[in-house]
Amino acid sequence: MNILTLETTCDETAAAIVTERLKVLASVVASQDELHERFGGVVPEIASRAHLERILPVVDETLKQAGISLDDIGAVAVANTPGLAGSLLVGLVAAKTLCAAKAIPLIAVDHLQAHIYACRMAAEEDVFPCVGLIVSGGHTSVYRCENPIRFDLLGATIDDAAGEAFDKVAAMLSLPYPGGPAIERAAEAGNPKAYRFPRALLTGERRLDFSFSGLKTAVRYQITGPGKTDFAKIELSSRQVADLAASFQAAVVDCLADRALAAMKHTGLHILCVGGGVAANSRLRERLHAEAQRHAFRLHVAPFQLCTDNAVMGAIAVERLQAGLTEQLDLDVYPGVVRK
Ligand code: KG4
Ligand code: ZN
Repeated sequence: MNILTLETTCDETAAAIVTERLKVLASVVASQDELHERFGGVVPEIASRAHLERILPVVDETLKQAGISLDDIGAVAVANTPGLAGSLLVGLVAAKTLCAAKAIPLIAVDHLQAHIYACRMAAEEDVFPCVGLIVSGGHTSVYRCENPIRFDLLGATIDDAAGEAFDKVAAMLSLPYPGGPAIERAAEAGNPKAYRFPRALLTGERRLDFSFSGLKTAVRYQITGPGKTDFAKIELSSRQVADLAASFQAAVVDCLADRALAAMKHTGLHILCVGGGVAANSRLRERLHAEAQRHAFRLHVAPFQLCTDNAVMGAIAVERLQAGLTEQLDLDVYPGVVRK
């Protein structure tokens, strides 16, 4: 059976076609980066309107790439949580309409679980049970993933997500959006020890939550001076930008690696899967690979094209379908993280 998967949780309109045996027949991602760039972050209303314009052309293009028609689709899967309400709705309504028109099953996908499933798709082998670390623009969470159906939340950010911190610090440094890749590039020429930024909640195994808002504020005060917030008259040299970017990035990597290790210890599991946009960061990938060697666990980091939002990771729907977990057409969107 061919399954059409839709992904519209944030600012990528994406569709893919996967088979029940997890073969990817087609994948299309229409990014909205250029629409949000001048605002330095995603504007929800612009995002949902762009999804509306793009969803049908993206589905058409995906079917064309796969060389099949809608009649060859046996089920439709859609990410209905978490994300921006208006964006989620566009994908959900498209999925429901296709299911109603073709009388085929609807499958709900949790976007965060899908980010972990990106590792399963790339590994081409079972990766469960594992610890799943999701580091994206909107979320930073760590799960105990018993199997592809059962994910138990171990910890999450109590304020900003890691990617959000990258985007906001990039804006402070006058670097373009999205901030992650821009900071990574700027940091290449910088000294990660130039500034000593805080590493929040490094409390070992006892706590598995994250916090990045203090780090963000520390970077701000380093630029403006303590207690001041006005950037208007401040000109940073390229050396300062590089050092600030490198020192900030080092702090984020330390926090993520610390919490990933604590989760491995806490669960006693031997596989770590990492997904989400920030998992594209080379320093983070290097650090996690080093830790995996040192602590003798298997590491799967999603490949670059599956780190940021895409619909291939929606193949987790195959697992749900096989477990009999299909939805009625009154399925809703859940913008917040479903804690289960
Ligand atoms: O997973 P994603 O595409 O969207 C969400 O579900 O949020 O993640 C986007 C985030 C952005 O905040 C972006 O700045 C960050 O991932 N990102 C990176 C890198 N590439 C993308 N952060 C750090 N280093 C990167 N190379
Ligand atoms: Zn995402």
